[in-house]
Amino acid sequence: MDGRFFQLSCTKIMAMAGGVLLLLSQTVYSAAILEGQRMHPVEGKNGMVVTSHFLATQSAQEVLEKGGNAIDAAVTAAFSLAVTQPRSGNIGGGGFMLISSEKKNEVVAIDYREKAPGKATVDMFLDKDGNADKIVSRFSHLAAGVPGTVAGLGMALEQYGTISLEEAMAPAIKLAEEGFAVTPRFSNGLKKREKRLKKWDSSKRIFYKPDGSYYEPGDLFVQKDLAATLKRISQNGIKEFYEGKTAELLVAEMAKHGGLITMEDMKNYSPELRTPVHGNYRGYDIYSMSPPSSGGTHVVQILNILEGYPISEYGHNSAQTIHLMAEAMKRAYADRSLYLGDEDFVKIPLKGLTSKTYAASLREKIDINKATPSSTISPGKPLPYESNETTHFSIVDKFGNAVSNTYTINFSYGSGIIVEGAGFLLNNEMDDFSAKPGVPNAYGLLGGEANKVEPNKRMLSSMSPTIVKKGGKNFLVTGSPGGSRIITTTLQVIMNVIDHGLNIQSAVAASRIHHQWMPDQLRVEEGLSPDTVKKLQEMGHEVKTKSAMGAIQSIMIRDGVMYGGADPRRSTGLAAGL
Ligand code: GLY
Repeated sequence: MDGRFFQLSCTKIMAMAGGVLLLLSQTVYSAAILEGQRMHPVEGKNGMVVTSHFLATQSAQEVLEKGGNAIDAAVTAAFSLAVTQPRSGNIGGGGFMLISSEKKNEVVAIDYREKAPGKATVDMFLDKDGNADKIVSRFSHLAAGVPGTVAGLGMALEQYGTISLEEAMAPAIKLAEEGFAVTPRFSNGLKKREKRLKKWDSSKRIFYKPDGSYYEPGDLFVQKDLAATLKRISQNGIKEFYEGKTAELLVAEMAKHGGLITMEDMKNYSPELRTPVHGNYRGYDIYSMSPPSSGGTHVVQILNILEGYPISEYGHNSAQTIHLMAEAMKRAYADRSLYLGDEDFVKIPLKGLTSKTYAASLREKIDINKATPSSTISPGKPLPYESNETTHFSIVDKFGNAVSNTYTINFSYGSGIIVEGAGFLLNNEMDDFSAKPGVPNAYGLLGGEANKVEPNKRMLSSMSPTIVKKGGKNFLVTGSPGGSRIITTTLQVIMNVIDHGLNIQSAVAASRIHHQWMPDQLRVEEGLSPDTVKKLQEMGHEVKTKSAMGAIQSIMIRDGVMYGGADPRRSTGLAAGL
């Protein structure tokens, strides 16, 4: 359905609802669709918001217009996405937020990743024969980690924001209470996941009409339980989610269905301030997420390997460039399988993995003309230890702050389980642990001891919210959903801008590739020329064309102008400048 037709069909509904807000929303929505087809970015001088949902972009934009900073706008966007995009926006999941302040010359990371419950055990996802049970780790109450989103957003606002929690949550409450018009993407998502969601009465009641039929584009979607939960948090503070009625509802849901999360787990949850991984690529400073995400480590590691090649000369998406990217990716993902986990539990050779010397040693093993079979690649030896849906948004303000935030409930609609009476979905992030070393998770990622299940541990992530600086100034704000593809998707936007000089809209739209060591497969999106694919095959790559990867919402700042690029892979995405 194209934007204009959708706008017309919605006009009728909106007249019935009499909602001026909805009318505005739909105008922006159709603009978003048209915008996505253009290859030039949106411009702004006083701020820029890029999210995967136009209503969240709008909420955040209004905060900036009223003089709020990027952190205020980010928290507002995150709560709004929890209402308008329940497949990935959330209060029942977790994530990572990078905040850069030019004034303070610092980049900090808030880690609000979920944690394993205190009663979690190493073999909790093994069946009686010792095999990993995917249904339990993905679609049961045991799949849920203790949610971190509300605490993480609260920390961001309290330490770096200027508005109250009440102000930041007001747009989300309104959207949940009064409803919003269903988009084609929203409607299709619920149709696609019907089996998973209808398995649970609590989810069925929220996502389908009383007679079980679908919400269609233009229908009004109201979430009363979620509105009540958000209101309680707004009135009583973050503690409400972890110690109040909301926590009680979540724990009752667990008790009823054999889940592990207790009131104690909820009360003990705390987000952490982390130091982001820092690297340097062709004179640009790269800041990205540190463990418990593997994202930043491997973005920097791959860039370090590639820095040794004249990538811009080889050209964007040429067979030579793609070959070298794939070879670098393979080595990084092999290391990920052995070394990465929650640094509060395991020692990670972070300095070694991100050092230029180690990258040079890996580069030596790369044949510039021939693919190395993954079966012959093992995790490398960096210097000794030093002592499947997610959503990303990027926001900058006129005060020199930038926020890069990726958060998730793991799969589309997480575990598919709505907490009865609370109106939000439980994550299924426990599947990101290695249920059994050597058995791939939902993204085909292999993991080992470092990422085994342990009580109160954070499961390994690939989320890579990234901020690139040049000469002390914020230059690029980026990140993506996409499970194991997050790292390589983020990497390619950085390379598209730095190596290939693409503007931000072209950089996010360009066809992407991905290799994760195992399976030994070079995954590509549609759009590569047949002769490029042929050359890659001749070099020994097994090339597979598959569905689109990631949805990278990005901002580039140059000469004081902010350029926003919403990924056309998401029809609801919107970049809006001030
Ligand atoms: N759940 C996907 C990730 O965190 O990488």
